[in-house]
Amino acid sequence: RTVYVNGEYLAEDQATVSIFDRGFLMGDAVYEVCAVLEGRLVDTPGHFARLRRSMTALSMPETLDNDELLHVHQELVRRNALREGLVYLQLSRGVADRDFAYPGSETPPTLVLFTQAKAVIDSPLAHRGAHVITQPDLRWGRRDIKTVQLLYPSMAKMAARAAGADDAWLVENGLVTEGSSSNAFIVTRDGRLVTRELSSDILHGITRAAVLRLARDVGLVIEERAFTPEEACMAQEAFMTSATSMVTAVVSIDGQALGDGRPGAVAARLRTLYIEESL
Ligand code: PDD
Repeated sequence: RTVYVNGEYLAEDQATVSIFDRGFLMGDAVYEVCAVLEGRLVDTPGHFARLRRSMTALSMPETLDNDELLHVHQELVRRNALREGLVYLQLSRGVADRDFAYPGSETPPTLVLFTQAKAVIDSPLAHRGAHVITQPDLRWGRRDIKTVQLLYPSMAKMAARAAGADDAWLVENGLVTEGSSSNAFIVTRDGRLVTRELSSDILHGITRAAVLRLARDVGLVIEERAFTPEEACMAQEAFMTSATSMVTAVVSIDGQALGDGRPGAVAARLRTLYIEESL
């Protein structure tokens, strides 16, 4: 693979970052993941806008502008002949002696991008639907900033695996926040689409926004509010959204089957609409 590090395109085994990088030492880095379908990037303006919001929230130094970022993304897709998968971008505050205080503005940030091939449209999970378990949400309080501090979501994912499930939905104060790496939706028995409102409690998903727009276009009633795991277990359908899973149906929660235990019709329709619009 060809990867990108601070202005250079390199073979992946030639690419290095300092052990003093703050992303490595302090988790002081933000990231984005853009899906690639048929060699085309999905929703880059949304991802770039969120990257700027994450950078602003953490007072990170400036990096490439959006046109330059788009060029690097496209160049990596081209050089790696990527048809389907993702482009990962990580921006850290750069290299400095270990200190809790941020280094001065003269310290350049570290920008790294790479591609990963992956079945997005024909993923097995999309066909059979995901089994999820609930786990307490023990992450920090600024989940709207897309940082690389991903240890707790990894633990939640491993708890799901250990329970024979695919993923975890996180619960705080008796309410679902989101999935370990996705936004969570339910469809009530009378057909309303429910997903938690935006706040610092969840990541403001780019796929979430696109799916809400598509749902509105086809006339679904939308409620942006929190829901309990109990309400989710009683729902007609559930699904989760993220750049690389698009829309993935949830077929059981904590071992309780939803609807008829198969991917629901609303999830399937929104998935199709989103894929069609992204091609
Ligand atoms: N994860 N919530 C969390 C906690 C996430 O990590 C993600 C994305 C989402 C969905 O956001 P979007 O629709 O913008 O991808 C919601 C990415 C894909 C990841 O970490 O791989």
